[in-house]
Amino acid sequence: MSHFFDLPKRLSEPASSSSSGSIGASEKVTAEFPHHTIPTEEVQVLPESRIVMYTDPRSAGADRFRFLRMCLRELWNAGKVRSLLITSPLPKDGKSTIALNLATALAEKGKRKVLLIEADLHHPTLTEQLGLDGVRGLADCLDNGLDPLSVIRRIEPLGWYLLSAGELRSNPTELLQTEALAGLLQKLSAQFDWVLIDSPPVTPLIDALLLARQANATLLVAREGHTPRETLEKAVALLGQQRVLGIVLNGMEGLDRLYSGYYGNSRYPTNNGVKPLRLVEAGKRT
Ligand SMILES: Nc1ncnc2c1ncn2[C@@H]1O[C@H](COP(=O)(O)OP(=O)(O)OP(=O)(O)O)[C@@H](O)[C@H]1O
Ligand SMILES: [Mg+2]
Repeated sequence: MSHFFDLPKRLSEPASSSSSGSIGASEKVTAEFPHHTIPTEEVQVLPESRIVMYTDPRSAGADRFRFLRMCLRELWNAGKVRSLLITSPLPKDGKSTIALNLATALAEKGKRKVLLIEADLHHPTLTEQLGLDGVRGLADCLDNGLDPLSVIRRIEPLGWYLLSAGELRSNPTELLQTEALAGLLQKLSAQFDWVLIDSPPVTPLIDALLLARQANATLLVAREGHTPRETLEKAVALLGQQRVLGIVLNGMEGLDRLYSGYYGNSRYPTNNGVKPLRLVEAGKRT
């Protein structure tokens, strides 16, 4: 299993950051912000949500997320990663499913302050999936200068915080191009241990590329039987190899097959400098 630790040594600094080298992620959360004042939303977590970290914590899938958490923690402790973009080459690869599980894994039932940002303004499924309605969020912050800390909700029983997509009144891609995005992410990174950003796919939109410039690193999701190798390669090239921390494979049928077949007989690029960070079984393939 040693290859799981074979992570890229250099991670890109967010475009907005003026620091070099360590981002100081291992330092304590700097803020005085009173997290206990954030309103809580109690949600019903059904098995259909595929949040196996909550619904099936003893499953192999949940174990895969714990392993991913361990890998990410090492980078966090080294001060390399605090904000992480989750994207994929195509629609429906499983980005949001991976983001929900990873947020739940990293939060460790509330021990860590984890913020999940619903930055897919074109197709915001998280808020809907969690059964929240009419919630203000990212779009309102970027469009009207709303303070993001005033619209974040704590999601229970999952133990993390959500900044919803909010109400869209402008072109989403233009909103993500505003300077306000960098300021917003900097502000939020100072208040949370982890900031996860759930994004649209890399193609055909440029939103993921814009968001990747503001995050410390990017996790690419690929789905077994769905994501063609060429589109994965193209996504890595578009994002820039240095920004891609690793590839999460969603929907693999069996880990045995994975271990025996993945590295020797790769369907996905492994020799271009981007190593598979983690292999995740987020649920059986339909
Ligand atoms: N491993 C899996 N096996 C079966 N179904 C899955 C798996 N992973 C995700 N799904 C389902 O596939 C659908 C798409 O997943 P998800 O919303 O996570 O993808 P996405 O990449 O975020 O999509 P979009 O590009 O629309 O944002 C959802 O209904 C989800 O429950
Ligand atoms: Mg999604």
